[in-house]
Amino acid sequence: MGQMGNNSITDLKPKLSDFRTEVLQGLMKNPKETHPKFLYDERGSNLFDRITGLEEYYPTRSEIEILEKQGLGIADYIGERSTIIELGGGNGSKGSILLRSVRSPTEYILVDISRDALELAVENISSKYPGLQVKGVCADYTNYDVMAGLGIAGRKSIVFLGSTIGNMEPGEASQFIANCRKIMSGGDTLTIGVDLKKDTGKLERAYNDSSGITAEFNENLIERINNTFGCHIEKSAFRHHAFYNAEKGRIEMHLESTKDQAISLDGVAVNFRKGETIHTENSYKYSLADFVKKLEDAGLGSVVYWTDSGGNFALFSAKA
Ligand code: AVJ
Repeated sequence: MGQMGNNSITDLKPKLSDFRTEVLQGLMKNPKETHPKFLYDERGSNLFDRITGLEEYYPTRSEIEILEKQGLGIADYIGERSTIIELGGGNGSKGSILLRSVRSPTEYILVDISRDALELAVENISSKYPGLQVKGVCADYTNYDVMAGLGIAGRKSIVFLGSTIGNMEPGEASQFIANCRKIMSGGDTLTIGVDLKKDTGKLERAYNDSSGITAEFNENLIERINNTFGCHIEKSAFRHHAFYNAEKGRIEMHLESTKDQAISLDGVAVNFRKGETIHTENSYKYSLADFVKKLEDAGLGSVVYWTDSGGNFALFSAKA
């Protein structure tokens, strides 16, 4: 019971990154860096959920506003009887808003690297849309073979929300769009949520919230390092630092060493000077024109976009 028989999960067993090895490698680099994916352990994911509800953090509610107000326009662009492929859709809540408007979708396929998130999202969408065929694929969607292996016959619509594309380096983002383009046929669509360039103060406040949740989210990496390597770095040894790098068009998040210190990880001594940082995340921001060009450069056309009333965030759609 409880199983409607309209959903299934395929586990392609994505190669999971090894926190221990990759973090150690990143800390031996100069400058020191770690991949943003390492911010999302269970506690990190819960903290991120809290960030999305903060007054200063406008992206999530701006994107939801667009999905709610422009649903019909987006659905029109996507067309009817399309297979929707949502990449990295978290708990499925944004996808289900989009589904209110999409006309007679053939199937809904969720691709996510996290098996837990995927199960939740598949369950969430199937319970809200009991007549819809919902499939989950546990895989790394940045891998072209995964995308090519989806093997969808009819019209398709790829959806990539949450401005996750902002975490990719510009070249990686272009490669990702080109990979999507390669599995699209004429008339198929790609829809991407993108955070826009704006006033520096507003950008920086979104990553330096007054309740300190973003700081906790960033500093959680130190806790994860302590738990993984069995070391005891004090909380006060590093502080959250986030700022807008206008030249690169990105928010940078760092953990800044508050003193000269050495930490020992698996017998390797990692030295920090006071003020030296671990670069933990980039969040690229685009102008409307920048992103239109990016889509066109990857071979897509008929580009359209919708923004929220504050002009903070945009959903772009393009066709093959
Ligand atoms: C999940 C990548 C969209 O870049 O805004 C939020 C992550 N980091 N606050 C973003 C994040 C700090 C977020 N993304």
